[in-house]
Amino acid sequence: MLEIKNLNKRYGSFYALRNLNLTVEDGELFGFVGANGAGKTTTMRICVGLLGADSGEVFIDGKRMLSNHKLLSNKVGYVPDFFGVYPSLTSMEYMQFFAASYGLVGTDADNLCMDLLRLVKLDHKADTDVNGLSRGMKQRLCLARGLVHNPDILFLDEPASGLDPRARYELKEILKNLSSMGKTIIISSHILPELSEMCTTIGIIDHGQMMLKGTIDEIHRAAAMQSPLIVVVEEHAVDDTFRVLQEGCIYRKQNG
Ligand SMILES: Nc1ncnc2c1ncn2[C@@H]1O[C@H](COP(=O)(O)OP(=O)(O)OP(=O)(O)O)[C@@H](O)[C@H]1O
Ligand SMILES: [Mg+2]
Repeated sequence: MLEIKNLNKRYGSFYALRNLNLTVEDGELFGFVGANGAGKTTTMRICVGLLGADSGEVFIDGKRMLSNHKLLSNKVGYVPDFFGVYPSLTSMEYMQFFAASYGLVGTDADNLCMDLLRLVKLDHKADTDVNGLSRGMKQRLCLARGLVHNPDILFLDEPASGLDPRARYELKEILKNLSSMGKTIIISSHILPELSEMCTTIGIIDHGQMMLKGTIDEIHRAAAMQSPLIVVVEEHAVDDTFRVLQEGCIYRKQNG
């Protein structure tokens, strides 16, 4: 289980995260939704150890992580919102490079790299230069790279941005597959519908704070409650308006 407790992060005098609290259960496919600048990337970068927090803590399975970088880097994988790819390598060499950075070399490592390329449907591009991959393929290669050390929790920062519908569909299928293999997946987007059909749970971040968390139905209901319909009526019509509104509710109830 991932628990983020009272996380604060300032850039200069600007608070990017304010007492951010979030719990993600094991095996969840969690959608982390927020507008541009809400604090998604900042949260993820802290959770994977790439950025320091001012205060607060990240726990995985009850263990403090922010002061334990070695354990943290074994537990988490990260797919950033930009392509960190080296064009002069083939897809396979790229994977081998990252495997080696975790001390994985030799035949077993090569087999692992090939398995991961197969998992993200890039095995047929193993010998292709990274330069020769499409955007969706590069994104999937970054995903394979993030899995090389078999992390329990995978963070993906806006992985679907810039992908065409087919590439998005392929990515979603791969993520669902990973989820069914037991990985905990946290995926950010600024578009709720993009995540709603794929994620088991959604959390909404705004101005560095978690605003809502729940299933997609719960989020829709809570959002509707936060946008009440305000009806202004003349004083003499108040009783009639109440009656009509109540009848309306009964009518909807009777129709299920
Ligand atoms: N290195 C930085 N220096 C100063 N301010 C920063 C820095 N990085 C982020 N910020 C600010 O912190 C806030 C949160 O940024 P963050 O990148 O975490 O948002 P985000 O939710 O990932 O946005 P987006 O959807 O645009 O990727 C923003 O107001 C941003 O301008
Ligand atoms: Mg971001």
